[in-house]
Amino acid sequence: MDLQQTQTLYNLARSFAGESQAGNRYCLYAEKAQSEGSYALAALLREIARNEEAHAKVFLEHLTQGMPEPIDSLPFNAGYPYIFASTLENIEAAARAEQEEFTEIYPNFSAIATQEGFSSIAASFDRIAAVEHAHHDILTQAAQQMRSQTLYAGAQPSVWRCSHCGHSAVLTAAWSRCPLCGYPQGYVELHITAPTY
Ligand SMILES: [Fe+2]
Ligand SMILES: [Fe+2]
Repeated sequence: MDLQQTQTLYNLARSFAGESQAGNRYCLYAEKAQSEGSYALAALLREIARNEEAHAKVFLEHLTQGMPEPIDSLPFNAGYPYIFASTLENIEAAARAEQEEFTEIYPNFSAIATQEGFSSIAASFDRIAAVEHAHHDILTQAAQQMRSQTLYAGAQPSVWRCSHCGHSAVLTAAWSRCPLCGYPQGYVELHITAPTY
């Protein structure tokens, strides 16, 4: 496998940079959510951030394994999001970025990798795109529930569980303070489903 003189080299570099930034951006979003008392949202963002870090590693390994010498500097042009606002805006921006990744960027990079004869790199782009699709759906659910104020309330009774002490109950809305441990609502586990693609 030789990535010299290929577009895939630059696509991997761009992907490594994008995943690295996404991972760090989501850690900063998690820190902000946690500082506002939204611990479950912060945990969700940290989990997604860890996924992005893992994706960055996959891309960096493909890139370094495909080059004969260490790359001290590889210039390229690319656009990245620079958003640090309210937690709702952060999550909505993250969902948009995930959407662009799984609908445009990675399918495009996968097709180019296939054309250039890098089937295992194409497979990585495809598998990572599927994860970004799930991330998009998770983040979109969180944003919609925040907008409609249904993060911790629903039309029908459902199970709410405190992530700190494990107390659970069937209620239309989660407690503002856990009746068992006294931890605030921000510790209540979210009602968000992670799809498989
Ligand atoms: Fe990713
Ligand atoms: Fe993602």
